[in-house]
Amino acid sequence: MDINKYSPKFKVNAKHLLHIADLSAEDVFEFLYTAKLFKKKFKVGENAPVLRDKTVALLFGNVSTRTRVSFEMGIRQLKGDYIFLPKNETQLSRGESIKDTAVMLGRYGISAMVLRAFPDEEIKQFVQWSEIPVINGISDLSHPLQVLSDLFTVWEVKGRLDDLKLAYIGDGNNVANSLIMGCSKVNMDIAVACPHGYRPPRTIVERGMQYGNVLITDDIAEAVHGADVVYTDVFISMNDEDDESKKRKLARYRVTPEVMALAKPDAVFMHCMPAHRGEEVAAEVIDGPSSIVYDQAENRLHMNKAALALLVK
Ligand code: CP
Repeated sequence: MDINKYSPKFKVNAKHLLHIADLSAEDVFEFLYTAKLFKKKFKVGENAPVLRDKTVALLFGNVSTRTRVSFEMGIRQLKGDYIFLPKNETQLSRGESIKDTAVMLGRYGISAMVLRAFPDEEIKQFVQWSEIPVINGISDLSHPLQVLSDLFTVWEVKGRLDDLKLAYIGDGNNVANSLIMGCSKVNMDIAVACPHGYRPPRTIVERGMQYGNVLITDDIAEAVHGADVVYTDVFISMNDEDDESKKRKLARYRVTPEVMALAKPDAVFMHCMPAHRGEEVAAEVIDGPSSIVYDQAENRLHMNKAALALLVK
């Protein structure tokens, strides 16, 4: 389905936002159109007070710049309130059950919870016991808000999503997983170039293939050929130990000017950040004219607002 032929209703069927794999293409489009609307309003100083009298719990298990600040600012702009709860300052860190935590947050009048860096199995338990929307702010398997926001950014920059090609180079991690599901649901081709041992899980690749064209290869040139977007992420994710062997295996998957030259002449470069210049991406690329990484980061704000507006009742 072509997003530009879709008529938004500004509502979704989803009750939670856990993985893009759970969303229909229509719901993906609803998130993107709602983010577009919030961004347009923000640019002229208008912010709909859709979270008035609502409080969102931000339950974070690791450090964050973009996710935390974009949620805190987004909630303020929508006239809501939030409680920032570092996991290690809650009883969860001392073994309290997820059931007890999830039930209690709802009883206190919390309207939604954003879970950052919880194992996917624990996120499922929150959903099982929670009567309020649960939003995955990153997990081992996926980073759905990042990728919804990225699709919005591609749509803004390229004017369409239909029939574009995104090449992801590097570690087949949670961002790669969400890109596979996100691209395939909006009719974008995706090619992932990564070394053996660091490929996205077969189940996710097969699921993506049900909706669109997904290529997994160890050949960077094959992945990048004809790409409209070249995307990478850090080699070592936040909860991983620093792994020199992994870095060595991924070293040749760096996005350099030579790699960008293999893509279409008007290809853009994306990175969800934080970035390590000289490791997964050359400074000339991320700081060069084809880079749209700050637009990506900016759009996290508008996508987070869209997600809360669509999910919080
Ligand atoms: N991309 C992303 O999730 O950034 P933070 O780790 O800063 O939240």
